[in-house]
Amino acid sequence: MTSSIVSVVGAGHVGSAVANALVLRRACDRVVLFDRSAERAEGEAWDIADAVPLLAEMDITPSADYADLAGSEAVVITVGATPAPGQSRLDLLGSNAGIIASVMGELDRVCPEAVVILVSNPVDVLTRIAIEASTRPAHLILGSGTVLDGARLRQRLGELLRVEKDDVHIYVIGEHGDSSFPVWSSATVGAVRLEDCPLPGSTSLLQLKDELTTAIRRRGREIHERKGYTSYGVASAAARIVRAVVRDERRIFMVSVRPAEEYGVGDVALSLPSVIGRAGVERQLLLRLSDEEQQLLDHSARVLDEAYRSLSGSGTKA
Ligand SMILES: NC(=O)c1ccc[n+]([C@@H]2O[C@H](COP(=O)([O-])OP(=O)(O)OC[C@H]3O[C@@H](n4cnc5c(N)ncnc54)[C@H](O)[C@@H]3O)[C@@H](O)[C@H]2O)c1
Repeated sequence: MTSSIVSVVGAGHVGSAVANALVLRRACDRVVLFDRSAERAEGEAWDIADAVPLLAEMDITPSADYADLAGSEAVVITVGATPAPGQSRLDLLGSNAGIIASVMGELDRVCPEAVVILVSNPVDVLTRIAIEASTRPAHLILGSGTVLDGARLRQRLGELLRVEKDDVHIYVIGEHGDSSFPVWSSATVGAVRLEDCPLPGSTSLLQLKDELTTAIRRRGREIHERKGYTSYGVASAAARIVRAVVRDERRIFMVSVRPAEEYGVGDVALSLPSVIGRAGVERQLLLRLSDEEQQLLDHSARVLDEAYRSLSGSGTKA
């Protein structure tokens, strides 16, 4: 592997956890951890660097100067406020939209060819804003989207069916938030359709779908209520996406992207199956949706479009 640099913008709970996950996974050769507060970046980078002598050789550099991000193959954006109790991810939009537009301006200046992965919330609307604010092509910008929601669902379904989660194939698409939904119509366990799999006890498939859909939508909120923020799960998801970019793996992830025209949902960004490699979103796969699922996708797109349009009076490009 040639020397690869990955930068993380924002050294808060999420950014420092992403930097740490990159180091633990050895996803690249050098991590630059940037924050507007040099002290914060140093504190977190030095703490992570202390583990390096116990791991494989790896470089982690704190920074408060965007020039240090030059040469990055990928940049993960984690700046911004986290929801206060009772706030939804969409409530953060006003404060985070302007920050993201200005961060994209800096990244276009110092690393115009890097793949940019947004994690800041509301991730779908901010991905759309990043695509519109940036001079780089849209395939180089994506949001971490529902990668984590899908992983949570595969884990829960695997436990219920008593099979290894990697053999459970199901996608969670749409908004990373309350209108996300699993695409049950194409779910398989191995190559067997989910509806043909025996279910535990007296559980009906309908019950199982309802319970799991609700559980994955609630999971982030439940963690938030207990520790005040979430960090490790999304950090591993982001590090996994980064590795696919740096190693040009062409793996399929549900990341937040501008949907292909065939989905008929307009200019929003939301999670759909996408092949991720060195060029970011190499291409999108077209999911065959049931009528009900298409309606859910339309609804998710409407929710996100309304949130985006609510910004038009606030000075942000909409
Ligand atoms: N997509 C997901 O699944 C997911 C999960 C968890 C958190 N998040 C989001 O990630 C974001 C960060 O959460 P957190 O808990 O790390 O917050 P945090 O407050 O701990 O950290 C934010 C960091 O960003 C820095 N920062 C703020 N504005 C900046 C700017 N303009 N330039 C550089 N640095 C700046 C701050 O100094 C701080 O260190 C939030 O928007 C949160 O909602 C997303």
